[in-house]
Amino acid sequence: MSNIFPTDKILLRADKEQLLQQKGIAIWFTGLSGSGKTTIAITLEKELHNKGLLTQILDGDNIRVGINNNLGFSDIDRIENIRRIAEITKLFVNTGIITICCFVSPTEEIRTIAKNIIGKNDFIEVFVNTPLEICEKRDVKGLYAKARRGEIKDFTGINAPFEVPAKPAIELNDTFSIKESVLKILDKINL
Ligand code: ADX
Repeated sequence: MSNIFPTDKILLRADKEQLLQQKGIAIWFTGLSGSGKTTIAITLEKELHNKGLLTQILDGDNIRVGINNNLGFSDIDRIENIRRIAEITKLFVNTGIITICCFVSPTEEIRTIAKNIIGKNDFIEVFVNTPLEICEKRDVKGLYAKARRGEIKDFTGINAPFEVPAKPAIELNDTFSIKESVLKILDKINL
C-alpha cells in the first residue's frame, strides 16, 4: 500500500508481556453452531482469570452485531469476517493477552487465513467436534429448525459445508464434560 507509514516507535509486545507476566496467545475454537465453543470458552476464561491471567473472548454472535454487522454468511463474507477477527486477535495477542476466539470458521481456507494473520506460533486450534445431530437437537438458538424449514440459507451443517480440521492441536467432543474439556486445553497450553 502506498503513502501509509506504520509507526515503529511504539512499545513492543515483549514490554507488554513483561508487564503482564504472561504470554499472548490465540486459542481458536472451531466447530458447528451449538457445538459448545462459547460455553467451553467461558469456563476456560474464568479458570485463566482466577489464575491471574488477562484474557479476552471474541465470539461470532457478538462480533457480528458490532464491527462485522455489515457481513452475512456467503463464502466471501465469512472470509472477510474471519480476516477482520484475526487482525483484531493479533492486536490482542501482541498486547500479551490470552485471546479466546469462538467462530464456526467452517473451512480449511478460512482457518488458514486466521492462522497466517495471527502467526502459527501464536495460534492454537481447538476443534469442538460435537456431531451435527447433537447440535441440532440442542438447537439453543432455534436456528437449525429455521434452516431445515428453508428460512436460513447457507446454514453451516445444513446447507453450507463444515470441513473437519485436518490437524487441530486439540480435539474435543460431547463425551467430555465442560470441565474435562477445559482441563484438556489447560494441559496443552501449559500456562
Ligand atoms: S463464520 O462461519 O463466519 O465463522 P460466525 O462464527 O461468525 O460464523 O457466526 C456463527 C453464528 O452466527 C452461529 O453461532 C449462529 O448463531 C449464527 N448464524 C446465523 N446464520 C448463520 C449461518 N447461515 N451459518 C452459520 N451460523 C449462522
